[in-house]
Amino acid sequence: MAKIGIFDSGAGGLSVLKEIRKVLPAEDYVYFADNANCPYGEKTVKFVTERAMEISEMLIRMGADIIVVACNTATAAAISALRENYSCPQKPETREKILGLSGGRRDHIRFIGMEPAVKPAIGMTKSGVIGVLATAGTLKAEKYRHTKELANGRVTVMEHVGQGFVELVENGITSGPEAEKTVRASLGPLLDAGADTIVLGCTHYPFLTDVIKKIAGPDVTIIDPAPAVAKHLTEVMEEDGIVPVQGNVRGSLTLLSSGNDDTLKRLAATICT
Ligand code: DGL
Repeated sequence: MAKIGIFDSGAGGLSVLKEIRKVLPAEDYVYFADNANCPYGEKTVKFVTERAMEISEMLIRMGADIIVVACNTATAAAISALRENYSCPQKPETREKILGLSGGRRDHIRFIGMEPAVKPAIGMTKSGVIGVLATAGTLKAEKYRHTKELANGRVTVMEHVGQGFVELVENGITSGPEAEKTVRASLGPLLDAGADTIVLGCTHYPFLTDVIKKIAGPDVTIIDPAPAVAKHLTEVMEEDGIVPVQGNVRGSLTLLSSGNDDTLKRLAATICT
C-alpha cells in the first residue's frame, strides 16, 4: 500500500488532493499545510526552498512513498532542488539520506509539481487572449517565464496576481461580497483585456471558482490543472513501481499543519465527502 505525501503553504492544496482522491481513492494520504508561513507568494526562493525540503523530509519520515507539491509557488521555487536532492538513487548521498529518512523502505522519492496550465489554455482560447492568475512568486519565476514562451506569437498572455485570494481562502471565505470584491479587482483587468480563458495558477484559487465564474460569466473558460496533475501522478507512480491500491474503500487522510488548523479541517471536510 502506498502513502502519498502532499503539501502546500496552506489549505489550497486540498483542491489538488480532491482531484487525486477521485482517481486514487484507496491510497493513504498525509497532507501538510505550512500555514504558519502562509502566504508563500511574497517569500524569497531561498525561504520557500528550505521549507519545501524540511516538509518533504518530514513527509518521508511519516511514510510518504511519493510527494505532490500541491503549490505552484513552491514548485516554481523548489522542484529542481527537491528532485536533485531526493529523486536520484544513483547519487550515493541521496540513497543514504532517503534510506535513513524512510527507515530503509525507499532509496529515492519522486515529486509531482504544479504549474499554470498555459499550454491547454493556448489550445482553448478563441479570443486569442488568455489570463493567468497566480502569486507574485510564481509569475516572476524562471519556470513560469519558460512555460509562457509556449504562447509566443500564438496568443497573448495577460497576468495578474490574485491579490488577497489566498488570505480569503485561509480565512475560510469562499463566497459573499468580500470575496466578490477581492476577486473582481484582480480578474477584472484580465477580462477587460479580452481574456476568454482563465488559468488558475495557484491551488488556493479553485476554492473561489464559483465567485470567479460569477464575475467572468458563462463565456469564459476557467482552467484548474489539478485533474491533469492527478493523472500525471498515476503515471509517475506506475513508472516508479508504486502499485495503486485496488478498490474504492477510502484510504486514510492525515491532516497536519504548522499553524491553526480550523480552516484546514473545515475545507477538508468539504472536499472529502
Ligand atoms: N497555494 C499556493 C500556490 O499554488 C501558494 C499560495 C501562497 O501561499 O501564496 O501557489
